[in-house]
Amino acid sequence: MPQIFRDPSFDSTLDVLREGYPFLYCRSQRFNSDIFQIRLMGLKAICLHGAEAAELFYNPRLFVRKGAVPRRVQTTLMGIDAIQTRDNGEHRCRKEMFMSLMGPESRERLMSLLAEQWQRYAHRWEQQDRVVLFREAQEILCRAACAWAEVPLPEPEVSKRARDFGAMVDGFGGVGPRHWRGKQARRRGEKWMRGIIRAIRKGALPVQEGTAAHTVAWHREPNGELLDVQMAAIELVNAIRPIVAIATYITFAALALHEYPPYRQLLRNPAEDYPELFVQEVRRYFPFTPFVGALVREDFSWHGFEFAKGTLVLLDVYGTNRDERWWQDPEVFWPERFRQWQRSPYDFIPQGGGEFLTGHRCAGEWITIEALKQAVAFLNDGIRYDVPAQDLTYDLTRMPTLPASGFVMTNVRATGKGA
Ligand code: HEM
Repeated sequence: MPQIFRDPSFDSTLDVLREGYPFLYCRSQRFNSDIFQIRLMGLKAICLHGAEAAELFYNPRLFVRKGAVPRRVQTTLMGIDAIQTRDNGEHRCRKEMFMSLMGPESRERLMSLLAEQWQRYAHRWEQQDRVVLFREAQEILCRAACAWAEVPLPEPEVSKRARDFGAMVDGFGGVGPRHWRGKQARRRGEKWMRGIIRAIRKGALPVQEGTAAHTVAWHREPNGELLDVQMAAIELVNAIRPIVAIATYITFAALALHEYPPYRQLLRNPAEDYPELFVQEVRRYFPFTPFVGALVREDFSWHGFEFAKGTLVLLDVYGTNRDERWWQDPEVFWPERFRQWQRSPYDFIPQGGGEFLTGHRCAGEWITIEALKQAVAFLNDGIRYDVPAQDLTYDLTRMPTLPASGFVMTNVRATGKGA
């Protein structure tokens, strides 16, 4: 039996928080191995890196999610006992509900709501001295996502709700005040959505069939029961909150346009789907999800390594997207690399890997790609702007991270094109 490399640290919990995104990646390089062992919060955890390991991790016969997600992540990012923590038939039924919202018509509706908001905001920005793109994008996405879901969003609440969805995401890797802000934001968000679910079920809030609000309110579990109000509220948040989170990728995309200006012209080339190459590289190159976790379902072995039932297993998302065996010069921003990409569900996993229905791959990946393409077209052609001196660095030890300034634009002029 081969020996598994063990991190010499007695417990790595603080190191994960201190080192952030590169924690797993650095160790897989140091040990020159796709598998190694650490201790996390006092427990043994097996860490996996790379496409072959991702294929193992996304085999639903080998792993379960129940019990794998720390409570601190559930109380901020995803909600207690939400889809991310479900297995087998229960998961499948919930996932079908989410995937039913991701069809072409539904996506098109979201994109046209978003396009409207980008244009509206562009005119507003013309009157402002400076615009912080990240904050504005959060609002744009929040308005469009609520309209798409048919969740009423009164005008005076827009900014507060957008910030709350953002705080839920920001809270997942935080300790102290950042974690508390995420928790409070989630409490407020779930309370709001409980009211929406109750109103729909009482007939006081009419919503169209096929929208997120209608679908979640009337979804039935495998036992034929409606979701309880709290769970329905959590899953409705889970349909809107990650749309608002696309603001992070949009901010990184703006940074990429700024730092690699030749792509501005290439993006306009109608001969090639350059926007697709560009946004895929944004999702590969810039950090968002650091890793995902699962528990071993039953004992098994892989390449001679023993996986005992109940062991926590972490998959290195950040590092797998920059694995030199698949990604030449991974630290170079180079969209053209995606011309050769074979579309494996395991070597490029910014939003998880494997299958959508039978596994936990992100339900919103197509929406994310389309919303990003639209935002890039808007930033490239829908407005002209200056980028004043500011701190555009992003800190890899902070999870999630973002350019420090949030990407400030000045002298914004709308062109009426793009998006
Ligand atoms: C799951 C990332 C956008 C809905 C996930 C997972 C990741 C992820 C890493 C977990 C994969 C795993 O557990 O193996 C992201 C990122 C996004 C994004 C970085 C960009 C901002 C979206 C959008 C939606 C969405 C726009 C829907 C509107 C979901 C759902 C799950 C999920 C419902 C749970 C899937 C399951 O457990 O089966 N996402 N996501 N996400 N995401 Fe996303």
